[in-house]
Amino acid sequence: MIDRLQTIFKNAEVSIADAADFKSIDDIRVKYLGKSGELTEILKGLNQVSADLRPQVGKVSNEIKNKIAELLDQKKEDLDSKVNQSAIPGWDPTLPGRKSVIGKMHPLMTVQKEIADIFKNLGFDVAEGPDLETDYYNFLALNFPPDHPARDAQDTFYVKNRVLRTHTSPIQVREMEKRKPPFKFIAPGRVYRNEAIDATHHHIFHQVEGFLVDEGVQFSHLKGVLDVFIKKFFGAEVKTRFRPSFFPFTEPSAEMDISCVFCKGEGCRICKQSGWVEMMGCGMIDPVVLKNCGIDDEKWTGFAFGMGVERIALFKYGIDDIRLFYQNDIRFLDEF
Ligand code: DAH
Repeated sequence: MIDRLQTIFKNAEVSIADAADFKSIDDIRVKYLGKSGELTEILKGLNQVSADLRPQVGKVSNEIKNKIAELLDQKKEDLDSKVNQSAIPGWDPTLPGRKSVIGKMHPLMTVQKEIADIFKNLGFDVAEGPDLETDYYNFLALNFPPDHPARDAQDTFYVKNRVLRTHTSPIQVREMEKRKPPFKFIAPGRVYRNEAIDATHHHIFHQVEGFLVDEGVQFSHLKGVLDVFIKKFFGAEVKTRFRPSFFPFTEPSAEMDISCVFCKGEGCRICKQSGWVEMMGCGMIDPVVLKNCGIDDEKWTGFAFGMGVERIALFKYGIDDIRLFYQNDIRFLDEF
């Protein structure tokens, strides 16, 4: 009996190995394991086997039944994968997978958000204004004399009787007109200038404006706030310094420098060996601007500042060409 079982198994093994399609596999399954298949018949007839042999015959039959079922499943899987591979012409399953490109924040927007978050944590609110401005908000209310060179057609894009804002400072005027002090705002936005494009200039770029109006605001408050911002953004070891400058809408005006983040103030190519790099313009809001916005300049004083997002991003990431931010080269953008 055991011999017969072994023979059945050998025969099944050979036919499974020879089977070349799903139909043959099904036939073999029926032949051995089906309702009246060879093995099933033996198992059905177990009660006729003598009692002493019965357990062994039962055990071996079951083992063989399982093995055949296993071999059949295995063969079916082999055939399956062959069919899948040959069904798609030119499909090579050994090639590496294709990476899907997932969108993410542009590095300039990441930097703008980081700047905004620091000021928001200092209690500043966020304001926005239109890209297409009137001459009044972009220039006149900010105390630009009518013959100021920044109004020159070289710098400003004119669109009919409007201008594409050349800076985010008009948002100061729009907000101050609407509010009663005290208040403090930051105002991020895109700005436009009619400039030739090179490694450090672009006709579209981004600024973050900031302004605060309250009673008794002094230049030292401005210094304190900007110093905290720079240390939060670039690191506690970075130093700030303020140099006298001129802007029509601030008096006094200053330019804030930071110690070079590349050479830690030692002097390098980027800071032209000076150890310092220019970061942003700032100053005390000119009383004329406060008056233009209907704010009592006897009672209230304020400070303002404006920084270029591209410039800050260049320093943060150690990039030396602003144009990279606008080329949409996925290899560049992927590095952030
Ligand atoms: N609006 C100036 C510019 O685009 C930057 C600036 C300087 C903004 C001083 C300010 C400021 O608010 O106080 O060059």
